[in-house]
Amino acid sequence: MKLVHSPQELKSLRKTLKGSVGFVPTMGALHEGHLSLIKRSKLENDHTIVSIFVNPTQFLPGEDFEKYPRRYEADKKICEIAGVDLLFMPTPQDMYEKDEVGMYAPKIKGYILEGHFRPGHFDGVLQVVNKLLHITNPTRAYFGKKDAQQLYLVQKMVREFFLDTQIVPCDIVRDQDGLALSSRNVYLSQKERQKALLIAKSLKKAAKMVQSGVIDAEEIKKRMYDILEPIKLDYVEIVDREFNQIDQIKIGDTIILVAGYVGSTRLIDNIWI
Ligand code: PAF
Repeated sequence: MKLVHSPQELKSLRKTLKGSVGFVPTMGALHEGHLSLIKRSKLENDHTIVSIFVNPTQFLPGEDFEKYPRRYEADKKICEIAGVDLLFMPTPQDMYEKDEVGMYAPKIKGYILEGHFRPGHFDGVLQVVNKLLHITNPTRAYFGKKDAQQLYLVQKMVREFFLDTQIVPCDIVRDQDGLALSSRNVYLSQKERQKALLIAKSLKKAAKMVQSGVIDAEEIKKRMYDILEPIKLDYVEIVDREFNQIDQIKIGDTIILVAGYVGSTRLIDNIWI
């Protein structure tokens, strides 16, 4: 595995790669969820590039940028063992100039749900993903469905900017107890973790209701609110795959989303129906 810090060096190396290239962008503190993306990339491509960059522009003032887990040495080992070919670990100075051109998330779909509670977050996400895709120029890039709105907006950006990369959505990976894997789970105490499990429980219940024939979004949300009562919720929402709010579940075209705080930790999770 080759470790690269400079975007220019990575661009040059990329040009020497023959065949297909898979790319897995991450902010590090790698877990089984990231590993599943890396494994898939390795299966589907001749070469795999992983980036680890805690991107400052996607954190709002007062969010956890400073305390976001940074485990660079452990992450390098994980990538090495997973058979990553190129590991890209730039610094903010490598990635950003002063007074940047910038990217703007769409005014509607970038400012609902996550974008409503974290205004400007998706500007930063799209800005860095755009840069990363230009640097790595991958055949395929792998994104988890857990960040469903991010995935949707990245797909939209790639389409609108006529980029050649295929965005590959990857299934959510859960711990045995059902908690969706996230680098932020390390913030949770044992007690908080038990509370956090209610999120997955509410989504499971929603899926069961759909299975038993309930398609009314309000009815499903009402039952979810009951389960989620101990959690300080930002939202429980039911949308189609284009992130339009819907009143009735459409099988194969629905995402049920939850975001909320357990203690001071903000968690998101969802289920694709
Ligand atoms: O999902 C993430 O980890 C980040 O938002 C990403 C895509 C690596 C951009 O910083």
